[in-house]
Amino acid sequence: METRSQWGTRAGFILAAVGSAVGLGNIWRFPTVAYENGGGAFFIPYLFALLTAGIPILIMEFTMGHKYRGSAPLTFKRMNKNTEFIGWWAVLVAFVISTYYSVIIAWAMSYSVFSFNLNWGSDTEGFLFGEYLNLTVDPGQTGSFVPGVLIPLILVWAIVLGVLFKGVKKGIEVANRIFIPALVIVFLIIVVRALTLPGALDGLNAFFAPDFSKIASPDVWVAAYGQIFFSLSIAFAIMITYSSYLPKKSDITNNAFIVGFGNSSFELLAGIGVFAALGFMAGQVGVGVDEVVAGGVGLAFVVFPEIINQFPGLNGLFGFLFFASLVLAGLSSLISICETYIAGLVDKFKISRIKAVAFGGGLSALISLLFATQGGLFFLDAADYFINQFGVAFVGLVEVVLVAWVLRKVKDLRTHANDLSDIRLNWWWTLSLCVFTPVVLGYMMFGLFKQNLL
Ligand code: PHE
Ligand code: NA
Repeated sequence: METRSQWGTRAGFILAAVGSAVGLGNIWRFPTVAYENGGGAFFIPYLFALLTAGIPILIMEFTMGHKYRGSAPLTFKRMNKNTEFIGWWAVLVAFVISTYYSVIIAWAMSYSVFSFNLNWGSDTEGFLFGEYLNLTVDPGQTGSFVPGVLIPLILVWAIVLGVLFKGVKKGIEVANRIFIPALVIVFLIIVVRALTLPGALDGLNAFFAPDFSKIASPDVWVAAYGQIFFSLSIAFAIMITYSSYLPKKSDITNNAFIVGFGNSSFELLAGIGVFAALGFMAGQVGVGVDEVVAGGVGLAFVVFPEIINQFPGLNGLFGFLFFASLVLAGLSSLISICETYIAGLVDKFKISRIKAVAFGGGLSALISLLFATQGGLFFLDAADYFINQFGVAFVGLVEVVLVAWVLRKVKDLRTHANDLSDIRLNWWWTLSLCVFTPVVLGYMMFGLFKQNLL
């Protein structure tokens, strides 16, 4: 058997982990979630979630992958022979996500090209659902392929599978060395431009205006934890997989802090850029900022095209840069999602990476084609709903309870990490994993089940 792949450099690993973390969640999820959950006041629960769940679990997953040197299923199996299934569960969630995350990147690719001629016209919503997605069939029917989605989707998979074929060092590491610096530069240009638009300050005021009354509501805390989990790609098998490729001597704790704060900085930057642009837009239309706020697909593919229409010059270029940033952020995340099941297959069936990429990635690519049909958006909604409700937080809860309370591995892992780092993990880490995170996630799951099943 071949020996386990390794990152070439420490920076390579950090860039890949940041590449996984920084994704659509930073650009289109965070700004709206923060705005709706107390604006400036949201930073209190958000920081708390980062320090009690985000970074502690990141350290935990990095340490697990490093210590047990396996994909998520193998790592869990090596911890205890009965817990392998938890790794496969996380892998399955990642697999489902990869089938539709790829489709959204394909849309962003199309839109980066549309930017140059503002193809979406003045009715950007009508364009998205009508001309572009061609949603003319009933929910549940697939209809025929939409070529405008199919072609970029094939391109997305060609890039991702190509990178994964090349392996950890020559593929994933090299891709992130290109994508992430490019993303940072493109994004900085957009944010600076957005900040100098008329009305930008109104947008920032709306974004940062603190509504302290909200912090009393448990929902806001749940939103903060949810954002941190999704945004840091934890409880997805990803960070375990990536850290299993670390060399023996690696300062895991320090790396986790860099990745955690790096991702949050990017999130804050995105919030500033997005709201500056929304403030500009509100001013142009003559309404309040709250009337133009949107999240998710609506923000990126309906509101942003409108903003780009109104841009005081170089619309095409700024439209292109915005959608290119979605593509870059999305691709580096998609690569990491796919690597979870590729590593899982290689470890489990002792097959070559090439075969695992062809089989695992190929299957995901095939399924994703379903979303490139006329009824695709309905499937996409359903998959996203299922994953957000029962995937992430649930896996996270089981993972933490298992490690902290059932297998009682916290002390072991703490020693392992402390032997390698100048930053010492202390009672804070233990308390976060054993108490804070299980309590909040447990509460979250309880609410979800109540809402869905009762
Ligand atoms: N962390 C990514 C983001 O913020 C999303 C993601 C989740 C990526 C899970 C990979 C796996 O967009
Ligand atoms: Na993120």
